[in-house]
Amino acid sequence: MRYRKYVVVIVSAWLLILIWTGYLLLENRRMAIAREEHLHNLVSRGLQIFASNCVTCHGPLGEGVVGPPLNREEFRGDPDEETDVYDFLYTTIDQGRPGSTDPRWVRLETGEWASFTAMPAWGQAHGGPLNPQELRAVTTFIMMGDWNEVVSHIPAARLEGELPDAQVPDEVNQRAKEIIQLKGCLACHTIGQVGGFQGPDLTKVGTWGLDEAFLKQWISDPAGTEHRAPVYWSNYGDPTAVPANPPIALGPTQMPQLAFTEEELDLVVEYLLGLK
Ligand code: HEC
Ligand code: HEC
Repeated sequence: MRYRKYVVVIVSAWLLILIWTGYLLLENRRMAIAREEHLHNLVSRGLQIFASNCVTCHGPLGEGVVGPPLNREEFRGDPDEETDVYDFLYTTIDQGRPGSTDPRWVRLETGEWASFTAMPAWGQAHGGPLNPQELRAVTTFIMMGDWNEVVSHIPAARLEGELPDAQVPDEVNQRAKEIIQLKGCLACHTIGQVGGFQGPDLTKVGTWGLDEAFLKQWISDPAGTEHRAPVYWSNYGDPTAVPANPPIALGPTQMPQLAFTEEELDLVVEYLLGLK
């Protein structure tokens, strides 16, 4: 009798242990799945936010132009493990960085560009439009998202409407605007109230510090342009000295090569430099 009781106790104890272990295993798995889902939701929300707010400065592949490249290997990782990277990105996006509101670049003696442009503050606590959940989402996207998915989420270009007049003779304005419409620049670039959101907003491109030689070279052969955008950032010191912080390499350009006659190129560049 006593022996039987003993067996019953042992068997029930083992059963309990088994059930408990099973429960823990299931619970672990359930939590892992919930975390996956949570990250997946954050990444897709972050993708939308990036495509609608950040592309014009950081590029559709995060390749960098007005802002530095964000598709850098050093920024990739699991946000819960690479907490330094996460905090660095989150804080920068939340608070922004000082500089000129419109893009401003300075050509150094090495031929490279240094940026004096501000990163806007995006966090609501700093006057921006994004709440903490949205900041988390876009940070997680930069760390884990697929850059190739951005292009298909960029808002559509506004192709109806008049291009603004630049500070150039009437005839140049008229002809340059026709060429710009015809070549399709507005599919990707905003000028005034018209255009798209893949490339930088060119409404004031005449004030950025670019010159005629650069723009001609860039527009006729973007991929062949050696110093196409800044590689030095947070450049708050002497404007012309080569900064102490190391340059950041840009990813391959996303600007297409379009065919121009010499005359068309002259007109377009004169117009762009007159946009102030
Ligand atoms: C008007 C242009 C502009 C827009 C729009 C913009 N940025 Fe920036 N961003 C910059 C500039 C310029 C810098 C570099 C500032 C500096 O340090 O000189 C920068 C820096 C950054 C950095 C730090 C990168 C590094 O290497 O230190 C991150 C991260 C970043 N931006 C994310 C974003 C996100 C996310 C968005 C959209 C929510 C966004 N930016 C929108 C211009 C912009
Ligand atoms: C398919 C989209 C697309 C079209 C069309 C396009 N661009 Fe761009 N452009 C970009 C992107 C993206 C960038 C950002 C730089 C990069 O990716 O290297 C850019 C950058 C620029 C810049 C700034 C580059 C710099 O480094 O200073 C200028 C100026 C410019 N484009 C002018 C033009 C003009 C003029 C046209 C029409 C003749 C044009 N773009 C057509 C996508 C486009």
